[in-house]
Amino acid sequence: MTAPAIFVPAWAKINLTLSVLAKREDGYHALASVMQTVSLCDTLRIQPTDGSAVTCAVDVPALQSDENLALRAARLLQTEGHLAGGAALELRKQIPAQGGLGGGSSDAAAVLTALNQIYALNLTQAQLEALGARLGSDVPFFIQGGTALIEGRGEFVTQLPDCEPLWLIIARPPISVSTAAVFRALTPADYGDANDTEAVVAAIRSGGPVPFERLSNTLEPVVIQRWPEVAATRDTLIGAGASVVRMSGSGPTLFAPFRSLLDATHVFNTIHLEHIEAWLCHTVGHGTVGTPSA
Ligand code: C5P
Repeated sequence: MTAPAIFVPAWAKINLTLSVLAKREDGYHALASVMQTVSLCDTLRIQPTDGSAVTCAVDVPALQSDENLALRAARLLQTEGHLAGGAALELRKQIPAQGGLGGGSSDAAAVLTALNQIYALNLTQAQLEALGARLGSDVPFFIQGGTALIEGRGEFVTQLPDCEPLWLIIARPPISVSTAAVFRALTPADYGDANDTEAVVAAIRSGGPVPFERLSNTLEPVVIQRWPEVAATRDTLIGAGASVVRMSGSGPTLFAPFRSLLDATHVFNTIHLEHIEAWLCHTVGHGTVGTPSA
């Protein structure tokens, strides 16, 4: 008898900091970043099946293809000889694609983690992270989620204590920006040091408040300069009362952190009137990625 289906949340992430340090010989960039999972999420339904077929139905037709990272994650477990059984996946997308929120990467990590659990594959966290790295730079982080320091091109993940609980407004300017295009637009003059990332890591390790003034993203000025829609959305958030607005990943999505729900709600309601696509969500602690929600 096959095991019962489960629902699994696949949380989005934001980059509290993103320091691009240098270009590597393999064409990728060396990063230091503090990543954080947030409560905006995709939802997967995972049904183990007899036989070895893996399928994935997605509620966004454009994302239903062999390239879908959730599907590729399940197939990677099979081609690596870890998984003999099959799975019928259903994926409800809520995280905007190509937004800098890691949606596809989180879906992949959730599938790896959930199939490991359902089929008792006994893969360690390190093995899951190594498999994830083959699917995309952000996937290893999502195996554990929570708050983590990311280094290398994304494959070195150092778990940090969960940061203080924060409310977040996530706002999406009305454009899509490809990660590769943003990294291509970088020049050596844009590279920075890891000082902000180190300061935020130290604050989180000490259990203190997140130093909002040290949140930074090397890619943000590059994107803001080229895509005026991002600057416009940022200005609307600031005009509505957000004191700190940063870009997540390679953008174009922006986030604003709050310690007070009423402050966050005021800003959220104000930008809603300006027809900005936005979500009011919050930070999510580690160990909840890929955990069955029911
Ligand atoms: O690894 P992933 O497919 O998510 O990366 C997408 C693109 O982003 C890469 O092809 C590369 O151009 C760029 N990238 C980079 N340095 C990183 C991560 C991504 O240059 N550390």
